[in-house]
Amino acid sequence: MSCPLLDQPLRIAIIGAGSRGCHFADLISGLSHLARVVAIAEPDAAKAGHLAARLGVPTAACFSGWQALLDAGLRLDAAVVATMDREHTSPAVACLGAGLHVLLEKPMAPTIGECEGIVAAQEASGRMLAVCHSMRYNKIYAMVRRLLGEGIIGRVASIDLLEQVGYWHQAHSFVRGNWGATDRAVPMILAKSCHDLDYLAFLAGSPAIRLASFGSLGYFTAANAPSGAPARCSDGCPHEPICAYSALRQYVHTELRAAWPASVCSPTDHSLEAHLAAVRSGPYGRCVWRCDNDAVDHQVVALEFPSGITATFTMTGLTWEGGRRLRVHGGEGVLELNGREIAVRSFATGDLRRIEVAEEPGGHGGGDRRLLIGWLEAARSGDASTILTGARESLRTHAMAFAAEISRVERRMVELTEIAPEVASGVPRS
Ligand SMILES: NC(=O)c1ccc[n+]([C@@H]2O[C@H](COP(=O)([O-])OP(=O)(O)OC[C@H]3O[C@@H](n4cnc5c(N)ncnc54)[C@H](O)[C@@H]3O)[C@@H](O)[C@H]2O)c1
Repeated sequence: MSCPLLDQPLRIAIIGAGSRGCHFADLISGLSHLARVVAIAEPDAAKAGHLAARLGVPTAACFSGWQALLDAGLRLDAAVVATMDREHTSPAVACLGAGLHVLLEKPMAPTIGECEGIVAAQEASGRMLAVCHSMRYNKIYAMVRRLLGEGIIGRVASIDLLEQVGYWHQAHSFVRGNWGATDRAVPMILAKSCHDLDYLAFLAGSPAIRLASFGSLGYFTAANAPSGAPARCSDGCPHEPICAYSALRQYVHTELRAAWPASVCSPTDHSLEAHLAAVRSGPYGRCVWRCDNDAVDHQVVALEFPSGITATFTMTGLTWEGGRRLRVHGGEGVLELNGREIAVRSFATGDLRRIEVAEEPGGHGGGDRRLLIGWLEAARSGDASTILTGARESLRTHAMAFAAEISRVERRMVELTEIAPEVASGVPRS
């Protein structure tokens, strides 16, 4: 069937030329048969200029913000909304209102009400919106779901998922960085673990009906600062040479200054001098025990799903390795995912089957690239089936994160009907 849109690459605007916006812009430039970045909205002129130069976007198509971009009335088909967590709703709703398809970074929004506003705007517009829950698109995580659906371990009874944030990643993003203070970002369970809760719902076939959560900030606090540690690593800290969290080592004296995460401290200049200056004066040079952080560094959630499946989820920042570990218990066997390997043990035969899945390029084990392609294909064809994380589906799984935070803070079990009645409507309560 012919579709006029299929003749031309989609004209895309990047809203927020930060870490994620640039990542998606670079992925799009490798998919030039599907789409082209033709405009950039970014208040930081240096960031915008860098991206524009790399992609050949003219200065006239660079704007100081999403509002100015939309006011300019350029011919656009779609936008990637990659602003910070608390600045998703207005650009997403405005882009949908302007008739653009939207790729929206997670979390959708900081409140369930704002998430509902995005869903309403998407449904009214009829445009394609995908939320960046890349796990569903990542080949190995998708394979786990397919194997479970084929009954490889029989009927699933329970799931345990561990998210190992990694000690350095915790310090970089959730202590010193953008997500350390929840009033600037959102709570950890939404900022980092909305992916995990979304994936649990994907495996269980629906969002949970009730849950309970516990967690706190236990380690990255002033009480744990080594004696004599100054405010910054560069202030002659006596512990710096042997400290796991030395900013000088992580951001300055590394060959990887131009790569994430070191690149984040000085986004457009990766010289040693620029990184040293950033560590001396910017947020990434602060002692990890003397920041303004309140994000939890460990949290657990216990969940019950309508099918009777139970699950546990643990997020901890205090790990050596990064990545996730998963164990799924079924009537006929156990499935484990660790790194790039899925292992399945059959109770009947005792056989252990190992499946290795190679890492794909394109961010988050290839999940980002697959997600992007799914969204672009949906926008071009009008068929939403390649979007696994649409607005309403993402609202339903974000509700689990909002419920978990209420449970943690108020120390009580939370029914999902309390957060978003539609999430659990029609679901058996026992
Ligand atoms: N899907 C994932 O796995 C994943 C991973 C990391 C981050 N994220 C999310 O992606 C989003 C962006 O994160 P980031 O690390 O790129 O942050 P960032 O701070 O590097 O980028 C955000 C950019 O938005 C720009 N901005 C601010 N106001 C703007 C406006 N009015 N118009 C246009 N641009 C504006 C900022 O100047 C900044 O450059 C966050 O919501 C984050 O939680 C998702």
